[in-house]
Amino acid sequence: MKKAIVRNIVVVIIAILLPTTIFAQKIDTKTALELIKTHSENRYATWIELINKISKNKKVKIAEIGVWKGAFAAQILKNCPNVEKYYLVDPWRHLTDWKKPMNLNDDKFNKIYKETMKTLDFAKDKICVLRGTTLEVVDQINDSELDLVYIDGDHTAKGVVIDLIKLFPKVKEGGVIGGDDYEENIYHHDPNRFDPTMVKPVVDGFVAAHNVKHLFWNKNQFAFIKRGSGNTARPKSALNGSTARKTPDHSAVFSSAWSQTSK
Ligand SMILES: C[S@@+](CC[C@H](N)C(=O)[O-])C[C@H]1O[C@@H](n2cnc3c(N)ncnc32)[C@H](O)[C@@H]1O
Repeated sequence: MKKAIVRNIVVVIIAILLPTTIFAQKIDTKTALELIKTHSENRYATWIELINKISKNKKVKIAEIGVWKGAFAAQILKNCPNVEKYYLVDPWRHLTDWKKPMNLNDDKFNKIYKETMKTLDFAKDKICVLRGTTLEVVDQINDSELDLVYIDGDHTAKGVVIDLIKLFPKVKEGGVIGGDDYEENIYHHDPNRFDPTMVKPVVDGFVAAHNVKHLFWNKNQFAFIKRGSGNTARPKSALNGSTARKTPDHSAVFSSAWSQTSK
């Protein structure tokens, strides 16, 4: 009787530890930690390295929401050779309902647009310009088409909600949803004139609702992995990496990076 109990306990322990061990072998923790340390002050370098990791053995498609003058896009396109398609989503026009300092007049935005196209001309075969707000153009991207989306557009509560909800279906299972300006301080600008920057509160709510592990590694950058199509009823074991479910390779790398930094 005693022997049977001990045997059962051993079987249960093995059943719990085995998937964790298999999962852990996929994780390149050392590289991830070095990456975090090395690039903690430089968002370009961080994203370049992470994109190169997820695209090591395959071509990837990316969308950037909010492009401005194309500085981020240029860095990624210059330094990530396996990016085969890069969507640039930005209205480059004055928006009547956007209370942010970057909301310039149409003339200024037209100049910025031209400047951006010149800056990114070197990658003209890879870029796909979607000139419009997220709501206006997002459906030109197919569902599950993207390996990664970088959200850096509207930044208001309404805008971030729209970006997350509308981009989520466009990202593949195991793909990455991330962005800029994930900060405790929501008042980046004069609160009497401009809306607060609501990236952090909205992203926090979104990941909680989707029951995904919230991951971030840098002062003001956020990222999480898409797991499941908005299914909120997954068992807890699916969230901490101990699940036996097949996990895409790059998902494991990212899990490692962010779970370490969120401690
Ligand atoms: C912070 S800038 C982007 C900076 C750029 N990602 C970079 O790192 O170089 C914000 C941009 O978001 C754009 N934007 C504002 N509202 C938007 C919306 N609803 N959809 C898409 N882009 C939007 C603005 O036109 C502006 O160019």
